[in-house]
Amino acid sequence: MVEIIRAENYEELGRIAGEQILRQVEEKRDSVLGLATGGTPRGIYRYLAEKKPDLSRVRTVNLDEYLGLSGGDPRSYHYYMKEYVWEPLEIGRENRLIPDGLCPDAEEECRRYEEQIRVLGGIDLQLLGLGENGHIGFNEPGPAFVCDTHKVCLSPETRAANSRFFGSPEEVPRYALTMGIRTIMRARRILLVVSGGKKAKALQALMGGGVTPQIPVTILLLHPRVTVAADAAALGGKF
Ligand code: F6R
Repeated sequence: MVEIIRAENYEELGRIAGEQILRQVEEKRDSVLGLATGGTPRGIYRYLAEKKPDLSRVRTVNLDEYLGLSGGDPRSYHYYMKEYVWEPLEIGRENRLIPDGLCPDAEEECRRYEEQIRVLGGIDLQLLGLGENGHIGFNEPGPAFVCDTHKVCLSPETRAANSRFFGSPEEVPRYALTMGIRTIMRARRILLVVSGGKKAKALQALMGGGVTPQIPVTILLLHPRVTVAADAAALGGKF
């Protein structure tokens, strides 16, 4: 079942999604939160940092990381998390999981990551952003869904979209590690946040009703508990 919540704008989206996360943590203090990076969740993390909730028992698990970037590289997702989530929200070091962008063996790192999530008891709430091409995590459009955490070759669209965090598309790493579709779908609850007109087409595909690996977000139609929080621009006049 997909529940849709409409926000007027980006700021309201941050507040609405932030409240959903706060409610999750109130219900279960030691929640495992699957977290996303990028532009859309920044407003959520800002909202949470203002609220200063007690997240001392929360464990965080990230969706993805670029291959080849160290955690100290300001363009890595590790760095993003430190800057906007782990430190401002006082998440203990022992409670932070993210794939290692400098791992010597990607396959081994993916296996290790899956196992670490399993040991945590799975993900209670998975926060997702949405790619313009319909990706979730870095599960790019393709002929089939990839189940587990894996190494992915980023699509030209994704590298172009993310070049705003780098100098140019060429500087965006070619490869990343990402949770797989099954890893995401095993989360007990999913919160998809969508902002801006550039996402309207991908969001419309989700609302449209058919599941296809060419638009990975559509898999969420098969999940029993999905909330979509989207701003007016992303909804494109719908709802
Ligand atoms: C980030 C991630 C990606 C982004 C998506 C949207 O961890 O997994 O799927 O959520 O690319 O990014 P923004 O929010 O920057 O438009």
